[in-house]
Amino acid sequence: MNIGIDKFGLAIPEYFLDIEDLAVARNENANKFSKGLLQLEMSVAPVTQDIVTLGATAAHEFLTEEDKKKIDMIIIGTETGVDQSKSASVFIHNLLGIQPFARSVEIKEACYGATAGLDFAKNHILRNPDSYVLLIASDIAKYGIGTSGESTQGAGSCAMLIKKDPNILILNDDNVCQTRDIMDFWRPNYSPYPYVDGHFSTKQYLECLETTWEEYRKRNNKDLKDFEAFCFHLPFPKLGLKGLQSIVPKGIDKNLKEKLLENLHTSIIYSRRIGNIYTGSLYLGLLSLLENSTTLKAGDNIALFSYGSGAVCEIFSGTLAENFKNHLRNNRNEDFEKRKRLSVEQYEKMFFEEISPDENGNVEFKNDDSLFSLKKIEEHKRIYKYNPK
Ligand code: HMG
Repeated sequence: MNIGIDKFGLAIPEYFLDIEDLAVARNENANKFSKGLLQLEMSVAPVTQDIVTLGATAAHEFLTEEDKKKIDMIIIGTETGVDQSKSASVFIHNLLGIQPFARSVEIKEACYGATAGLDFAKNHILRNPDSYVLLIASDIAKYGIGTSGESTQGAGSCAMLIKKDPNILILNDDNVCQTRDIMDFWRPNYSPYPYVDGHFSTKQYLECLETTWEEYRKRNNKDLKDFEAFCFHLPFPKLGLKGLQSIVPKGIDKNLKEKLLENLHTSIIYSRRIGNIYTGSLYLGLLSLLENSTTLKAGDNIALFSYGSGAVCEIFSGTLAENFKNHLRNNRNEDFEKRKRLSVEQYEKMFFEEISPDENGNVEFKNDDSLFSLKKIEEHKRIYKYNPK
């Protein structure tokens, strides 16, 4: 049975920070961010936009009434959950009006969660071929003001409808995972920001990639020549480029290398303007590639490398479906152009605003007229608003 991605949506908050403005404010050479990390802009979410509202917005982009009747599982991958107990999927289930007899869960393993979710979705459909699964990767990446990771922050959500006979990408059965118990990036329950050993983390990312790729090639008898493109988890766009360079052997066919490089650059277009969206970053790269490539065609294979600090990684692949382009947007740039540019001062105030309920657990937020927003917290309960346009 062919199972994979049938529909693909993306949500980004309406604000962004230009990375040059950040460089000036932090007394850094702007080229360090724009050339050294390949980052241009960073998405900034106000307090009324969280993983629930962004996740619901990303899915709303494509869901039909028919889909809502057929979805019987919602999986959200995230490491910026809004509650230690209740899954963000349960809120999303309600906001989107999905039929009641569904399973709604949240998966955590740093930036890897959604990839585990994708495999769970596939197994669910193998047992229940007519089921639809809504898979959401949603995160708000905050490292803190003046930290080394600040220029790589971001916010956004990717949503995918997973089903049999998909219209976009058919998943192949070739997944290879690796687990390493390391402390490269982690966020203890008592801390709003992650602790990160930046250079150690990039070293681990690349080592995990190289060793998993080696194992993937052995187990599947496949090599770079079998792929049109390789998408990477993108904590910052330059690491995708370094990743590709680290697995391209010396003496590789020049045309193959050029093709892979060109597609790599296509896959980082969105991430350069959004920043790290943790578990959604790999899928943001895939969406960027599929929506912007003019050369990919049905039957082409795409390899994907998912990495979550801590660390778990996975390499797997998919094959493009017939007419996949007809099922993707070709005007995504409009969403970027609509965003409002913030000053550094405004960004600091907005991105790091804390929710501080009164003694009864109440707080009311300024009106946010987005499609979905956090309206208030009442007796410690999050109340969301749906504002149909
Ligand atoms: P840093 O140490 O401040 O920067 O922060 P740097 O000194 O390493 O410079 C960065 C690059 O800019 C270097 O390029 C410099 O040469 C270059 P490279 O040599 O590496 O190719 N550079 C310049 N280029 C042009 N003109 C200039 C200039 N100056 C410098 N004037 C660091 C870098 C990655 C450590 C930081 O951004 C950070 O801590 N980021 C957060 C951690 C991270 O993203 N890790 C990635 C791997 S872990 C991962 O992917 C998981 C994650 O997504 C979380 C999860 O799983 O949940 C993070």
